[in-house]
Amino acid sequence: MSNRNAPIGIFDSGYGGLTILKEIMKELPQYDYIYLGDNARAPYGNRSFDIVYEFTLQAVRYLFDQGCRLVILACNTASAKALRTIQQHDLPMIAPDRRVLGVIRPTVERLGDISNNGRIGIFGTPGTIMSHSYEMEIAKLFPDFVTTGVGCPMWVPLVENNEADRPGADYFVKQEIDRLLDRDPEIDTIVLACTHYPHLYKKIRQYTPEHIRIVCQGEIVAESLHDYLRRHPEIESVCAKNGARTYLTTENPEKFAEMASLFLGEKVVAHRVEL
Ligand code: DGL
Repeated sequence: MSNRNAPIGIFDSGYGGLTILKEIMKELPQYDYIYLGDNARAPYGNRSFDIVYEFTLQAVRYLFDQGCRLVILACNTASAKALRTIQQHDLPMIAPDRRVLGVIRPTVERLGDISNNGRIGIFGTPGTIMSHSYEMEIAKLFPDFVTTGVGCPMWVPLVENNEADRPGADYFVKQEIDRLLDRDPEIDTIVLACTHYPHLYKKIRQYTPEHIRIVCQGEIVAESLHDYLRRHPEIESVCAKNGARTYLTTENPEKFAEMASLFLGEKVVAHRVEL
């Protein structure tokens, strides 16, 4: 009989994946989760493919060693740059019975229901935007859509340094919104294609014209995970269901715990790990 002790792993370069975890815990509170933030090496957004792949694979292996059978890359940069190689090259060799999922495909699948005119704006890290992953996925599912991506190199550092709600962030937020809307004034839907960006949501909303919808990925990824678990009883049946949460970071655990407690609205204790 298979054991039923597997936590679900949630990985991000830093604090961004908390915006996904929060919605996943709302949708599926019964499961055990291990959150791993590689804060010591964040941001990933300006790093090369090889490095993002190497760091992400280390994190995935670490979470597998903790007993995870399913890991969500709650990070667009890692999903864009590392997911496919891990799924196609590494998993068959290192863990054929384990699964790693990303956040790009489930987000794109929903755009048909959200946009009225098919003009989509993407905010992401420079790495996600330069990978063209969103354009390619959108073109596959919605060939008539027009996608415009803008990389926001300063947004993740603002979040990682706890500056998201401070006045200095306004300049950088407004600058990228103006850049996107100059490039396509017809956009009716903007995807926050970086899991850190919901931490800046208030400011992004403030500087974005009211008629434009702003899509955060948390709920979408949570619903898609729910659906995945329904369709994959071989994974679901080994997931632990004690409602336990474990928070791991590669940087200062006190700082992580403070930020995560504030954001999640519950007391978080974090532990430092090395990958
Ligand atoms: N939160 C991440 C993303 O969704 C990564 C940000 C970074 O480390 O640059 O892309």
